Amino acid sequence: MPKRSNRVLVIGATGQIGSELTLALRKHHGKDNVVAGWYIDKPTKALKEGPFEHLDVRSRSHVAETIEKYDIDTVYQLAALLSATGEKDPGGAWRVNVEGLHNVLEIAREHKGIKVFWPSSMAVYGEGVPAVNTPQVAPLLPTTMYGVTKVAGELLCDYYHRHYGLDVRCLRYPGIVSSEALPGGGTTDYAVEIFYDAIKKERYTCFLSKDSTLPMMYMPDCIKASMDIMAAPAASVKTRTGYNLAGMSFSPAELVKEIQRIIPTFECDYKPDFRQKIADSWPKSLDDREARRDWGWKPSYDLASMTQDMVTRLRARLAP
Ligand SMILES: NC(=O)c1ccc[n+]([C@@H]2O[C@H](COP(=O)([O-])OP(=O)(O)OC[C@H]3O[C@@H](n4cnc5c(N)ncnc54)[C@H](O)[C@@H]3O)[C@@H](O)[C@H]2O)c1
Repeated sequence: MPKRSNRVLVIGATGQIGSELTLALRKHHGKDNVVAGWYIDKPTKALKEGPFEHLDVRSRSHVAETIEKYDIDTVYQLAALLSATGEKDPGGAWRVNVEGLHNVLEIAREHKGIKVFWPSSMAVYGEGVPAVNTPQVAPLLPTTMYGVTKVAGELLCDYYHRHYGLDVRCLRYPGIVSSEALPGGGTTDYAVEIFYDAIKKERYTCFLSKDSTLPMMYMPDCIKASMDIMAAPAASVKTRTGYNLAGMSFSPAELVKEIQRIIPTFECDYKPDFRQKIADSWPKSLDDREARRDWGWKPSYDLASMTQDMVTRLRARLAP
């Protein structure tokens, strides 16, 4: 019997990105064709409208059984411990981020024809790179465990592509801002929390300093990039480590100013914590010309349009 196409498994489907990406994939491929793999956070009502499975990416046998059970041909491996959590639990970050990815790559190698998407991060960068417009090809010397796992993951993806012909595609996401699921332990989480507090309390205490500029992106652009790179012809995906991906860059103070245009009474103060050191080790902006050239990447949102959309959506959701 010919293999059915477009049977997708999302691992880490209930996280900040997975919870929206899974629904977007279901809209595109049909809701019964996209399996939501969840681990700690339970699936929402919306995610339960299609198939869902409790899945630990560290268990190779269980991931393989799930892939066979649903005849999966595409895996989005999103399960991870993020930068701030990774500094508290470096061993856990290695096991989920690197060993979990290795499990998926091994299964994909054994079951020929499985395509893999895996998000890397701007956290691959550290010392010895220009902070502004950080180039695609540059020394990767991260100073966080999260960054170490992302560099190791990128090299694993490149290795499996070169040696086994595996079709694995990766993006170096910047910090992602979104209005649905809350972020899960990253250094850019402030850029989501600030909107909730601006709407609920008109006050926010930011854990980064006011001038900590970082590369950021709004969720609709993140979803578009993740689906576009997977739809691109294989020959146009020339980088198999991770493509730099840029949307916008802003500091907490610039975001506060933009929110104040809509909520003039909003006030923010700054109490930098351990995450400041992580932010200081990352680029301020990324050069994503290779993604634009190779598979046509172009973001749609800037700081003003993202802020307007976030406030509109959260006001509607959080209204008493
Ligand atoms: N959100 C961002 O700003 C951002 C930026 C750069 C890269 N990324 C990358 O994007 C991917 C998704 O990030 P996110 O923001 O949705 O993270 P998240 O923390 O919100 O979600 C990750 C999910 O993985 C799950 N998980 C943890 N351990 C697991 C395990 N052993 N098995 C299966 N699932 C497990 C968690 O329950 C969670 O639902 C990650 O690889 C992350 O490194 C995210």
